[in-house]
Amino acid sequence: MTSFSTSPGTRDILPPDAGRWRAFQGIFEEVAATYGYRYLIPPMFEDLGVFLRLGEATDVVTKEMYDFEDKGGRRVALRPEQTASVCRAYAQHRPVPPWKVWYAGPNFRYEKPQQGRYRQFDQVGVELLGPCDPDADAEVIALAWEFYRRLGLRQITLSVNTLGDEGDLQRYTTVLQAYLESRVDELSEESRVTLTRNPLRVLDSKRPADAAVVAGAPRIVDQVGDAARSHFEGVLSVLGSLGVPYAVEDRLVRGLDYYRHTTFEFSSSALDAAHVAVGGGGRYDGLVEALGGPPTPGVGFALGLDRTLLACDAEACFPAPDPSVEVFIVDTTGGREATLLADELRKSRRSVDRAYEQRSMKSQMKLADRSGARIAIIVGTDEVAAGTIVLRSMETGEQRTVVRSEVVSEVASLLGGVA
Ligand code: HAM
Repeated sequence: MTSFSTSPGTRDILPPDAGRWRAFQGIFEEVAATYGYRYLIPPMFEDLGVFLRLGEATDVVTKEMYDFEDKGGRRVALRPEQTASVCRAYAQHRPVPPWKVWYAGPNFRYEKPQQGRYRQFDQVGVELLGPCDPDADAEVIALAWEFYRRLGLRQITLSVNTLGDEGDLQRYTTVLQAYLESRVDELSEESRVTLTRNPLRVLDSKRPADAAVVAGAPRIVDQVGDAARSHFEGVLSVLGSLGVPYAVEDRLVRGLDYYRHTTFEFSSSALDAAHVAVGGGGRYDGLVEALGGPPTPGVGFALGLDRTLLACDAEACFPAPDPSVEVFIVDTTGGREATLLADELRKSRRSVDRAYEQRSMKSQMKLADRSGARIAIIVGTDEVAAGTIVLRSMETGEQRTVVRSEVVSEVASLLGGVA
């Protein structure tokens, strides 16, 4: 018989891990709400053109896009990230700025699967559209920082940089191109091709062959004009006052073309591959315009859920939530009593489980143990005849017989909460 398993780069997130994912998103929602962000759900796929704005020479566009023609002949792509979609949504719906939104969900990139790198991976993120204020850049960075803190992560490092404004970046690109062309013979085959498309992307190369040339490349900071410099200094100064530690990393260009001014990345020193970012973002003034909207500055970030949880594992923090139910019902009379008692308790908002298939008392007690329940309710023929039930504390083993009709208040008196 044919059997199937998940495609490369995709995974089933089984319980209890899936519960951990929900809790992760729940904490992100709480933190984002305290900063005034509201939830937005962009579509999982849209016109390929939206994502081409990420950069015609980026790996995300040239190698990793899940694009296809749909049955209506439209060229569409599964989203590789959500910033472009948020900006397209802004251009389409024209909300009143400032527009502060957060999102969570899967993205798709045809990458080489490995630990922490998947073809379907989840992100949580925020975008702040409207203001071009250093306070806005610092606020989104501080939000991410607070979120990591709330997860219990202590070994996150933050790198920041500025790419300058449009003019600065163009000037830098020209200088960089001249430099790279002067050393083209030393570059890898791939980087020579990249150079013809976008010299900036050559700086992303992790190929050993390119290391020496990349290390000697001119620095962006030398091309950044006064306006952009003052914006960046503003960002750093606010981060300083908020007590968010950072390192200025003048080679941090990030892998997408839409960035201008501030860029930043978070890494975990608890992970072996410390160079692998657990999150990143920056300012992308010009992107909304490129997608047909009014000139609107923007700044935001996205954090990889999969990778951040690996960092949590490495720091032994943020465990999966306890999946235990509160009450387990052991019914040796055939199962009907379990059905009715569970129904009554569940309607009073208790989490309840039970055994099926008329198992023996011993086997049901074993299941009660495994369920993690604090209370077992035991019902046999004697109890049914007397209109009682036995409540057993799974912690102490103490048992007492109570009137069946009082089950909700008896459970409440043991577990706390409203009867
Ligand atoms: P990005 O750096 O491409 O930026 O992705 C952000 C984070 O998503 C990465 O730091 C990483 O944790 C995670 N990630 C990316 N690719 C994978 C993968 N294949 N497997 C697992 N995790 C992955 C963006 O996506 C921008 N949209 C961020 C942004 C928002 N910039 C401004 N606003």
